[in-house]
Amino acid sequence: MRVLSGIQPSGHLHLGNYFGSMKPNLEYVGQAESSFYFVADLHALTSIQDPEELRRLRRDVVLDYLACGFDPEKAVLYFQSDVPFHTELSWILSTVTPVGLLERAVSYKEKVEKGIPASAGLFSYPVLMAADILLYGANLVPVGRDQKQHLEMTRDIAIKFNHVYGETLVVPEPLIRDEVAVVPGTDGQKMSKSYGNTIPLFGPDADCKKAIMGIVTDSKGMNDPKDPDTCLIYQIHKLFLNDRERKALTEEYVNGLPYGEAKKRLLQTFMDHFSPMRKRRMDFEKDPYTVEKTMADGARKATVVAVETMERVRKATGLR
Ligand code: TRP
Repeated sequence: MRVLSGIQPSGHLHLGNYFGSMKPNLEYVGQAESSFYFVADLHALTSIQDPEELRRLRRDVVLDYLACGFDPEKAVLYFQSDVPFHTELSWILSTVTPVGLLERAVSYKEKVEKGIPASAGLFSYPVLMAADILLYGANLVPVGRDQKQHLEMTRDIAIKFNHVYGETLVVPEPLIRDEVAVVPGTDGQKMSKSYGNTIPLFGPDADCKKAIMGIVTDSKGMNDPKDPDTCLIYQIHKLFLNDRERKALTEEYVNGLPYGEAKKRLLQTFMDHFSPMRKRRMDFEKDPYTVEKTMADGARKATVVAVETMERVRKATGLR
């Protein structure tokens, strides 16, 4: 069994990314015989064209993963662009990919509507993603629901390739994380960088505090009973708690815990949970050599597998 997933380098890690994608990713690490996680920096080029920004995002996402406990001994971590076979396979796959398949991609249309330039790269994004996965013969690809169609396209492309050239590529299974929490932002919309409603994991203490103390509440009086189901503070706080702790906190809300106090409790829980990671991140930041070495080791391990697949693909297609 081989697990693989791509990580979007998307900027300052916040609670929404943590509970929505990082934590579930970390839970898979070490569970499969082998797992591969890569920073999808070639994909990022479809929307980021500022070299300084891309450099910063690439660096940040690695620091975030290492700080949060990603163990490079248990799973391979690397930059997509460090393994050039992704792009080679992507080209070969594009020659068996019908244009009509790509034209049906919802995410392409959504991105163009959002103002991302309609480049050929953005259009063929799903082909590169298929290459990412098929290069490693991954059986299982854990992703969020928004990536379901992309994974179906990967399967279609693999099946098509095998049909044209004979059984060569492993057709992967998607593992859609439906159970994953949608984390509300401080204003009640989905937590997202683009809404400016995030609670950052890293960065100055004061920023985390400001975000938490700024969570929107209704106008219930100090000691009025509060409704945990509609209270944002509770909805965020509960992500950290087990069943027993949730019950206890619910009771306090119903008994009239003032919102100011509730926020302080959340801040405390937040700091207890993330302090070790915040410290680890600062340590890694001061030690770029270790981080670089981790990524170089990762690229080396990934390349070993990629080379084997490319051998087969080249033979199958007649490039060898
Ligand atoms: N498209 C994915 C996202 O937006 C990232 C990604 C790129 C990926 N290549 C992948 C995910 C391969 C899983 C497998 O989140």
